[in-house]
Amino acid sequence: MKALILSGGKGTRLRPITHTGAKQLIPVGNKPILFYGVEAIRDAGITDVGIVVGDTEPEIRAALGDGSALGIKTTYIRQEAPLGLAHAVKVSRDFMRDDSFVMYLGDNLILDGITPLVREFERDRPNSQILLAHVPNPQDFGVAELDGSRVKRLTEKPKEPKSDLALVGVYMFDSNIFEAVNKIKPSFRNELEITDAIQWLIDHDKNVNCHIISGWWKDTGKLEDMLEANRMVLSRAKRLLRGTLDGTTRTEGEVIVGAGTTIENSILRGPLIVGERCVIKNSYIGPFTSIYDEVTIRNSEIEHSIVLERCVIQDIPVRIEASLIGKEVRIQRSQLKPTAYRFMVGDSSLVDVL
Ligand code: TTP
Repeated sequence: MKALILSGGKGTRLRPITHTGAKQLIPVGNKPILFYGVEAIRDAGITDVGIVVGDTEPEIRAALGDGSALGIKTTYIRQEAPLGLAHAVKVSRDFMRDDSFVMYLGDNLILDGITPLVREFERDRPNSQILLAHVPNPQDFGVAELDGSRVKRLTEKPKEPKSDLALVGVYMFDSNIFEAVNKIKPSFRNELEITDAIQWLIDHDKNVNCHIISGWWKDTGKLEDMLEANRMVLSRAKRLLRGTLDGTTRTEGEVIVGAGTTIENSILRGPLIVGERCVIKNSYIGPFTSIYDEVTIRNSEIEHSIVLERCVIQDIPVRIEASLIGKEVRIQRSQLKPTAYRFMVGDSSLVDVL
């Protein structure tokens, strides 16, 4: 079996972060979200992995390389434009040949991996196996309507969902899917929808099995979902202090501090992770916070947030929370007159002030 990881797309719901970087590389628990998928695939015993890439190809290549560091062998497949999940399947035809494969959306996180699901597919040999999960907001997903245990109908983001069963971003196919993606037509949003391709399989009497998962899964396409994924990953963190913490610093719970980081006169209340070569001084870092490498935080409080590399946060009088802060951002208090808020923020940014 092979695997296909989708790492292209537009990422409109995570702008402005996605103006300058791939959303699949946003770290949760200080590890790019994409790596969790790669590891799940590798742990299921699949090593031949096609990576569908778009405009962010150079970055994805830089992060994954030939895959050997993560125990896989990567083949990059360029999708000239993000024309839909089924289009991504279409462009991977030459790589797949006639093999069965797992398709994994590169911004999805399934905490317990996919090994039993892959075994089930290999054992039962359906033409396709889809994963479903009960969600409170099915209108935001591809939704399945079941007839007993049989999949009757799949609808992409329905206005009036017929069930609360959302399609999880991991699919398994045999080579029949290539006929399906060639037969379907683009949807109203001009994408080739994977739901339409699977529906084509159903309508042509192919065997489409479904499996309702009970474990934790998240599609991290939006800020709140990214923060929740971060929360889930950190809830499994184990205490590991590598940096230098002075005598006035207090740590509580599962706190991870990377090498070369210095922490002075601060409170770190886990679960949280601080990366390497950071400086934290006179500050409070609260639960469910991931601080990436080379970040400076002084005289400030932050919790339940993700901070990317080389940010500087200083002298902020109110606690920062539920935030995703991109690379090299400076958030600081200024003594300049007139007393005013001064911003330099990119397109589609969001700033909430008191
Ligand atoms: P989505 O999150 O559905 O789409 P998107 O990345 O374009 O984001 P948004 O809706 O916010 O604009 O995509 C799921 C995953 O599949 C994600 O990792 C990107 C990837 N993808 C492709 O590789 N090619 C595509 O044509 C599409 C639509 C998505």
